[in-house]
Amino acid sequence: MCGIVGYTGTQDAAPILLNGLKKLEYRGYDSAGIAVVNDNNISISKVTGRISNLCEKTNDGQLLPGNLGIGHTRWVTHGAPTDTNAHPHTSNDGKFAVVHNGIIENYMELREELIDNGYHFESQTDTEVVVHLIEMYYTGDFKLAVMKASERLQGSYALGIVCADEPERIFVVREASPLILGVGIGSNYFASDVTALVAYTKNIIYLEDGEFAEITADNIQIYDCAGKPIEKRTNRITWDIQAAERGGYEHFMLKEIMEQPRAIEATMSPRLQNGEVHLDDLDLSDDYLKSINKIVITACGSAYYAGCSGKNTIEKLCKIPVQVELASELRYNEPLIDEHTLLIVLSQSGETADTIAAMKECQSLGAKTLAIVNVVGSTIAKLADYTLYTWAGPEIAVATTKGYTTQLIVMYLFAIYAAKKLEKISASEYKELIEELKSLPKLIQQVLDMNPSIPELAKKYHSSDSMFFIGRNTDYAVALEAALKMKEISYIHAESYAAGELKHGTIALIEEHCPVIALCCNEKMTEKTMNNIVEVKARGAEVLAVTFKENTKMASLADDMIMIPKVNVLLGAPVEIVPLQLLAYYVAKENNCDIDKPKNLAKSVTVE
Ligand code: G6P
Repeated sequence: MCGIVGYTGTQDAAPILLNGLKKLEYRGYDSAGIAVVNDNNISISKVTGRISNLCEKTNDGQLLPGNLGIGHTRWVTHGAPTDTNAHPHTSNDGKFAVVHNGIIENYMELREELIDNGYHFESQTDTEVVVHLIEMYYTGDFKLAVMKASERLQGSYALGIVCADEPERIFVVREASPLILGVGIGSNYFASDVTALVAYTKNIIYLEDGEFAEITADNIQIYDCAGKPIEKRTNRITWDIQAAERGGYEHFMLKEIMEQPRAIEATMSPRLQNGEVHLDDLDLSDDYLKSINKIVITACGSAYYAGCSGKNTIEKLCKIPVQVELASELRYNEPLIDEHTLLIVLSQSGETADTIAAMKECQSLGAKTLAIVNVVGSTIAKLADYTLYTWAGPEIAVATTKGYTTQLIVMYLFAIYAAKKLEKISASEYKELIEELKSLPKLIQQVLDMNPSIPELAKKYHSSDSMFFIGRNTDYAVALEAALKMKEISYIHAESYAAGELKHGTIALIEEHCPVIALCCNEKMTEKTMNNIVEVKARGAEVLAVTFKENTKMASLADDMIMIPKVNVLLGAPVEIVPLQLLAYYVAKENNCDIDKPKNLAKSVTVE
C-alpha cells in the first residue's frame, strides 16, 4: 500500500528509483511517479497503471537525468487513480516535490488555510497540502521548512522531499508509517521497506516515529522532532536479492508456496533443541504465565484466520480460554481486557494499521502483548512487549502463504512451550508434540509432491461463479483461509461455512454443479462432514474433498479428492492449507488473473 523510494549518489537516480519501485509493486498500487533533481530543476514523470508504463514513458529513466530523486507507487485513498493525483506532488513555485505514504487526517482544514493564503491545488489528494506547507514555510532553510510543515500534520506519514534550490539533499520524515534508510558507499537511499533496497545495500537504519533525516550522497543525519541531531545504529539485514526475486517460478506466490517446508524449518529449528522448545526471545516468567486468565488473538485478513487455527491449539494444550478478534473490530469494542490478558498480535508485515491500533488499545488496558511478526524492526515488533519472529523471509505476493503457515508454527511453539510450563501436558505428550512438529516440513513436502493433479482440478473448477468451502472445528478454521485465498486471487465468490451450519442457510444456494470444497482432515469430525457431503451431493454439488489418505470411504462419495498425510489435528493446519493454496493459484492462473498483485488489494494495509 503506497511505496516510497529515494536515492542520492554518483549514479543516475531514475533507473535506481524505477528498480526500487518495481520491488515495491507487491505492496499494491494503481499509479506511480518519480522526481529527479538536476541543475536546480525538478523533472517529474507520472503514470496511471503499472511501473512498466513509467519505464516506457521515461525510456527506462534516461529522459530524467540527475543523481538525486524520489519515487512513489500510489494506492488510492483520496482521489481517483489519475496521473494528476499520482505522486510526486510539486509546490506552486516548482521548487519542492514530495512523495508520501500514509494519510494526512487534517488535510481539509490545511487545504482551506492554504487556499486562503493563495496556494492552488492540482490534485484531490491529502498529500498536496504537505508540499504547499513546505513552500509556505520556506525562507531559504530547507530543514526548517520541513520541520515547520511536519508540525502541522496530523495522521500518518512517511515523506520524501526534494528541493530544486538544494539539489544535494533529500529530507525524509516518519510518523506512523514505515520508512527505512539504506546506507551505501558514496550513495544513500530511503524506502518503505527493505525489498526496494536489498539490491543496493544491506546496511539499514530504522527511523522511528517523530524522527526525520537529511540524506546526502556521503552522509545520513538523523534528527529528533525538535531538530536535535541523534545517532542511530545501522543494522545489517540477512535477506539477499535472490530471496526477493522469483527464482525461476512464474509467480512469487508459487515460489512462496513451494518455499514453505524451508520457511517452516527456519522458523522452527532454532527453537527446537535437545528435544525442548526454547523461546529465548520470549522472557515470560512462570508467575506471569500462571497469572494469565485469558488470551486474545488479534489480526487482520489471513493472519486473523491463522489466529482461528491457533486458538484451537493453544486452548486445547494450555487450557486457557482464547478469543480471536478482528483487529478492526477489537479496537472499537471496548474489550474486556486487563493485566491478566495476554494479547497475541499476528502480522506478516508488522505494519497493519488496524492491528497496531487494536494493540495500543489493549496495551492501554493493561494487557501484555506478544507479537508474531515476519518483518524485523517493524512497528508491531517494536511496540510489543515480546516478539517472536516468523523467519519466513520476504513475502512478495500480496496473498500470503508462507507468512500464514509460519504464524501457525510460532503459535504451536508457544502453545507447547506454555502448556509445559503450566504443567497442562505430560512429559510424554510434550515429547510427542515436538516430534510431530518437527515432521511438518517433511509432511508439507509430501503434500507438494503427492498432488500433481491440482492443475487439472483447477481446469475443471475455474469457470464457476461461486464456491463453498466447508469443514468442522479445525477443518473449519482452515476453510476460512482457503476461501479467502480463492477469492482474493481468482475473484471467484468463495465462502467458507462451518459444515454444521449448511442447513441454516447455505444449502439453499447449492445447485447443479456448484463446487463444494469439503475439508475432512479432522478424524473426529470425518463421519459428520461426510454426512454433509451426502447432503450437498443430493442437491447436485460437485464435491472436491481434502482428506487423509487412510480415509478410503471418501473415494466413493466425493467427485474429486486431494490427499494429505495424516497429522495431529492440533498441528495440522499448515499441511491442510497447502493444496488449497495451490488450487487457488492454479484456478487464478486458468482465469488469467494478476496472481501476485490482485486488483484492489495491498500487501501491507497501512491505513484504516
Ligand atoms: C492484507 C494482505 C493479507 C494479510 C493482511 C494482514 O490484506 O493482503 O495477505 O493477511 O493484509 O496483513 P499482516 O501484514 O498484518 O499480516
